[in-house]
Amino acid sequence: MIDSLINEMTLEEKVGQLTLFTSDIDITGPSMREGYKEDIQAGRVGAIFNAYGAAFTRQLQQLAVEETRLGIPLLLGYDVIHGFKTIFPIPLAEAASWDLAAMEKSARIAATEASAEGLHWTYAPMIDVARDPRWGRIAEGAGEDTYLGTQVALARIKGFQGDDLSAVNTILACAKHYAAYGASQAGRDYNTVDISELELRDTYLPPFKAAVNASVATFMTSFNEIFGVPASGSEFLLSDILRDEWNFEGFVVSDYTSINEMVAHGVVADLKDAGQMAITAGVDMDMQGAVYYEYLPDLVKEGKVDVATVNQSVRRILEAKYRLGLFDNPYRYIDQQREQNEVMTNEHLEAARDIARKSIVLLKNENDILPLKNEGQTIALIGPLADDKKELIGSWSAAGDWEKSVSLLEGLQQSGRNQHEILYAKGTNINDDSTQYFQEAIKTAERADVVILALGEAALMSGEAASRSTIDLPGNQLDLAKEIHKLGKPTIVVLMNGRPLTISWLDENVDSILETWFLGHQAGPAIADVIFGDYNPSGKLPVTFPRNVGQIPLYYNQKMTGRPLAENKYTSKYLDVPNTPLYPFGYGLSYTDFTYSDLRLSSKVLLQQDSIKLSIKLQNSGNLAGHEVVQLYIRDLVGNVTRPVKELKAFKKIYLEAGQTQEVTFYIKQEDLAFYQRDLSYDAEAGQFKVFIGGNSIDLLEENFALNY
Ligand code: BGC
Repeated sequence: MIDSLINEMTLEEKVGQLTLFTSDIDITGPSMREGYKEDIQAGRVGAIFNAYGAAFTRQLQQLAVEETRLGIPLLLGYDVIHGFKTIFPIPLAEAASWDLAAMEKSARIAATEASAEGLHWTYAPMIDVARDPRWGRIAEGAGEDTYLGTQVALARIKGFQGDDLSAVNTILACAKHYAAYGASQAGRDYNTVDISELELRDTYLPPFKAAVNASVATFMTSFNEIFGVPASGSEFLLSDILRDEWNFEGFVVSDYTSINEMVAHGVVADLKDAGQMAITAGVDMDMQGAVYYEYLPDLVKEGKVDVATVNQSVRRILEAKYRLGLFDNPYRYIDQQREQNEVMTNEHLEAARDIARKSIVLLKNENDILPLKNEGQTIALIGPLADDKKELIGSWSAAGDWEKSVSLLEGLQQSGRNQHEILYAKGTNINDDSTQYFQEAIKTAERADVVILALGEAALMSGEAASRSTIDLPGNQLDLAKEIHKLGKPTIVVLMNGRPLTISWLDENVDSILETWFLGHQAGPAIADVIFGDYNPSGKLPVTFPRNVGQIPLYYNQKMTGRPLAENKYTSKYLDVPNTPLYPFGYGLSYTDFTYSDLRLSSKVLLQQDSIKLSIKLQNSGNLAGHEVVQLYIRDLVGNVTRPVKELKAFKKIYLEAGQTQEVTFYIKQEDLAFYQRDLSYDAEAGQFKVFIGGNSIDLLEENFALNY
């Protein structure tokens, strides 16, 4: 059917299917186009993004179906990154839950809501490994680790796409940004990437490869260059690896005008050459650039691009429309009934609250100051984020209405803890140097038994085009914290931010710190649940918190170097800061304690095709029930290329009642030990390994084993 349709199409109509334009109801990039509706009517655009709502999408779909010669339905895409209207925690926050089922559910709900409003396609998940917290887009991914990032990617893809793309509540996912966008130099967005092929394959590509194996429907290219070639023109990435090595069968969309930007990169002289380079490399659809629209027909007529190449891209896109069932009924995702009944439901908000509290990481809790006891206390809630609703939903919050957020102040007030008196003062703005509100805040704090400081970033200080050269608390928030600290009251800091921050002073001086990221609409109730102990925090950092910005990039699975840190002057270190992070990857406290013991291996030798069973005893040695994320790392002691000091290979989130002990088991197989070798083949190498198990990437029990052939 698709082939006969392609046979009927004119060249212009074919190019139309490869063209994606934004509507004018949301803006997510630097350029807008007038006349996209006329282009739909003329059959010159096959997909639209930034359009949603049953009424509006029906109107657009009608133009394509009823007014064009062939009536091919439009594909409607949008950045449904962490919720559509019900806004969930930002992706980095959700990753801190290490709860794959919860992340799948959050994506499932997002797909349900988006599809009810006419959408077929989300530009998510972003599966870029990110090791530089200056890069604002670290907020959109799963953090610094390849293995965790891969598991999270799979959960999200499953959530969006479900098992059946023809179901009306599932949508196409998009693995983005391909590739190595997170490795931009100095953490500056859109900047050059220059890494080795080993690093590319070992660190950055595995989530994308896994996405292909999980049948992700689409890929998006990245803005950056790699190996001197912009990703949107990279035959190596798009043809050699994606198609030939991995057999990807879906379609590839460029990023927002990224084909055009190859001119600015300086690899082509003009837009026409850019179009030729992109289509030849393997970009099927041009997002917003109108390069294919303007130049592809001529490129084909002049023999510079083979029509078979165009047909192939058209086929991939029509196949996606077909799989969604759009040829059976182009309006099947546009459903006013579903729009009313399935969007922002209580059930969705409950799920958002649940994953929000699971995403909170307890960084410090001196003298068990948290959870707050139930006796009546006067609580001073202070800070620019204390009664904020707007920032809470974070960047890329789709069609989410920030006015529907529940602030921390409201969350505390609505918690039913009426015996507490809650005072509030803003103290300062997020990014301000005026101290005009300090006095009022200090006076408020003076009247309280305990102070909660809600500090952090504005939502748009992370996300796209939001890199920072320092990652301290912005403005004079730290000065405010210092003033309040002088009062000597027990102080809890609630951080809201889209990236790791450098917070050494807070770590040294305040009693308790909760990293809450941007938790979405239900942030207030979720944080209140943790503050009052209705939920025992269980999040673990998916990304390292450095002590200062000069340590960046700082990640747990670094290499050894030839002169590892030692007393000796001539070793790899700084004069002015330790090599260690402030908080390591995988770290996070609980209101209870977990004790690890008895690491056992079923054998000290792993034979080919076999597996070793590992077990540890995990005891909840504290007084409260809680969850612990048990993490397993390995280290390959000698490789034909250097190997990281440790690599996460498995984890399990375990729930234990107070006092309960459980044996936790894992299996290691040869394939878990594979890596890209000096000749770029992928295999495991016989030899000695270490295995580590524990509750973060530093405090670990360890054992040895060997892989024998
Ligand atoms: C971003 C993509 C996004 C696209 C469409 C771009 O600027 O890099 O992640 O999907 O815009 O909004």
